[in-house]
Amino acid sequence: MAESRSSVVPQSVGRTLRRDAWWLESVPVWILLGGFGVYATLRAFEGKFYEWGPYLSPFYSPLIDPKHHWWPLSPALLILGVPLGFRVTCYYYRKAYYRAFFFDPPACAVGEPAGRKYTGETRFPFVLQNIHRYGLLTSLIFLLFLWYDAIRAFWFEGHFYIGLGSLVLVVNVVLLSLYALSCHSWRHLIGGKLDCFSCTAFNRTRHGMWKKSSFLNERHMLFAWCSLISVGFADFYVRMVASGMIKDFRIL
Ligand code: FES
Repeated sequence: MAESRSSVVPQSVGRTLRRDAWWLESVPVWILLGGFGVYATLRAFEGKFYEWGPYLSPFYSPLIDPKHHWWPLSPALLILGVPLGFRVTCYYYRKAYYRAFFFDPPACAVGEPAGRKYTGETRFPFVLQNIHRYGLLTSLIFLLFLWYDAIRAFWFEGHFYIGLGSLVLVVNVVLLSLYALSCHSWRHLIGGKLDCFSCTAFNRTRHGMWKKSSFLNERHMLFAWCSLISVGFADFYVRMVASGMIKDFRIL
């Protein structure tokens, strides 16, 4: 096996017998994931312009100690670990950033930096990727807060209200929910470790849910990107309105 691999994959980074533009796949990862990482870091540390009227930025939800009674830094830093840990350990993103940022390997049948010993995800720090299933559970709890925020965005000063921001927050939470519900760990939680789907009524129910989850799971990459863009845009919109750069467009 090792022999056939070395004959197909030249042992030098980026060398390959492939003739297609294999590197194109990494371009959106560099731009979108890299850009999002920079933007989200700056925003998490900024610690202001995260709330306006009925809107709360998803980067700051749930909002903890905004008046700085016991936490002197940005409230986002208290909660950032949950969504960040969930995304970083996502099976899809792992593939994407291992290729785009670590060149490990850059693509199928493309050479990687010489001298690396392949250990998979069995050693520190990559063994920590196994916390993904727990990241899913905590992210599902965070989703409840985001749904609350999105519904609250339709209620302003005691009246029903629809602004562009209300719609932005709803679209965002829907996409984040689709991302979480298409997760591989969620699919396993629902239908994994079962020898017989038809043996009991409960198992048949699980089978039905597992099929729906499988439908979403096949589109996990799509939801991963759409939700990344939507959560960044939702924060950006709230920031623009909260800082007075733009006015919220009121629809109703
Ligand atoms: Fe991507 Fe779980 S595999 S969120």
